Amino acid sequence: MSGKREQWNSRIGFILATVGSAVGLGNVWRFPTVVVQSGGGAFVALFLLIVVVVGVPLIIAELTLGRAGKQNIVSTFSRLAPNTRWWFVGLFSLVTVFIIISFYSVIAGWAVIYFVGSVMGIFTGLDAAGLTQLNQQLISNPVIPVLGQAVFIFFTVLIVLLGVTGGIERISKIIMPGIVVILLILLGRTLSLEGAVEGVIWFFRPELGLINVNTALDAVGQVFFSFSLGMGAILTYGSYLTDEENIPQSAFLIGVADVGIAILMGLIVIPALFAFNIEPGVGPAIVFVTLPAIFNTLPWPVFWSSLFFLMLSFAAITSAVSLLEVAAAYIVDQRGWSRKAAAITMGVLIFVFGLPAVLSQGVLSNVVFLGRDILDFMDFVSSSFFLPISGLLIVIFLGWVWSTDKALLEIEKGSPGFYWGRAWSFLIRFVMPIAIFYIFITGIRG
Ligand code: PHE
Repeated sequence: MSGKREQWNSRIGFILATVGSAVGLGNVWRFPTVVVQSGGGAFVALFLLIVVVVGVPLIIAELTLGRAGKQNIVSTFSRLAPNTRWWFVGLFSLVTVFIIISFYSVIAGWAVIYFVGSVMGIFTGLDAAGLTQLNQQLISNPVIPVLGQAVFIFFTVLIVLLGVTGGIERISKIIMPGIVVILLILLGRTLSLEGAVEGVIWFFRPELGLINVNTALDAVGQVFFSFSLGMGAILTYGSYLTDEENIPQSAFLIGVADVGIAILMGLIVIPALFAFNIEPGVGPAIVFVTLPAIFNTLPWPVFWSSLFFLMLSFAAITSAVSLLEVAAAYIVDQRGWSRKAAAITMGVLIFVFGLPAVLSQGVLSNVVFLGRDILDFMDFVSSSFFLPISGLLIVIFLGWVWSTDKALLEIEKGSPGFYWGRAWSFLIRFVMPIAIFYIFITGIRG
């Protein structure tokens, strides 16, 4: 790569940018949706367990690999294990990145449309049934969602063009605190709705009978997706780290922030479903119906709704940016393209590849794989299969090829006497490969 590699300006900037990558549609849209589909508290309990055993340790792993390699996702592997074929894992991650960002931009495009719609006041005054109907009309329309998707990709490309510190770091510092404030206000509102308590109970009470391998597979998929793991996003952000950074501590903070926001969202959406009698069957659009329903019970619904969907669009952008950055860093480093050419070309490809997904809610709705429409299928395959597979490969690489001893030396540069080092190595070398592999294989068979 030409010149010196960029580094984060400040610790807080790095943490917020990484939290920006982690927090996005995965927390606000995907988490409540999967919780509803997988039976409430049982799923939540599993999710939390996997966060501790797999999620946070893997954030540490990816940040460490990134900082040690100071390269893009592909050449990190060839630098840390020269003359091997492990770079192949990086290529695999790149493919996953591509699928995810393509369908991600579709949902994010809905958020953009909802922002514009909120400003125009088209949701005000509608009840849950009316909102469900309007949602169906909007997302099945052949033109409107495509525009939303295009606008979203445009801004994502723009931020990546502005670079790591000038674009990504700067915007995350504004968005992340803002979104927390809005969510807290919404939380206050849902919890005071009549009938909300039942929802809270459903959210937290683990019906152990509902836990099975499929729930486990979904929970693993959700943790990977929400923590941006398994596709090099965190690894790439780690490559911009200074040696002084305390990786375990940052990983912990990032995990807590991400889980905190997911739980907040669950506590906003699910009690509201109960209170407004919304059918959970709405599927992926659930959040786009529940939230406007809550806004309509507040004074100034137009204001709240616009503000929320604006924030949601930006939270999605900070995640999409981290995905695009993985690809851009690779093309810039390996192929010697300019940042601009790389970002724009990727933007166009993502748009085109996302088209079948946008249209799958309308004109292409009868194209179905394994009982899922194209959008749902892209999400399912990438989150439940590709992410865990590349996560597994990354763990094996770190634990057995590059070695956790070298990793611990790298970690200790910024975190002398990493207290949990032994436990972490053990998780990486033994527990994780077996656990991920087991869940994965039984999940496929089931
Ligand atoms: N973690 C992001 C979210 O929760 C999505 C994402 C996945 C971003 C993978 C980057 C890499 O919305």
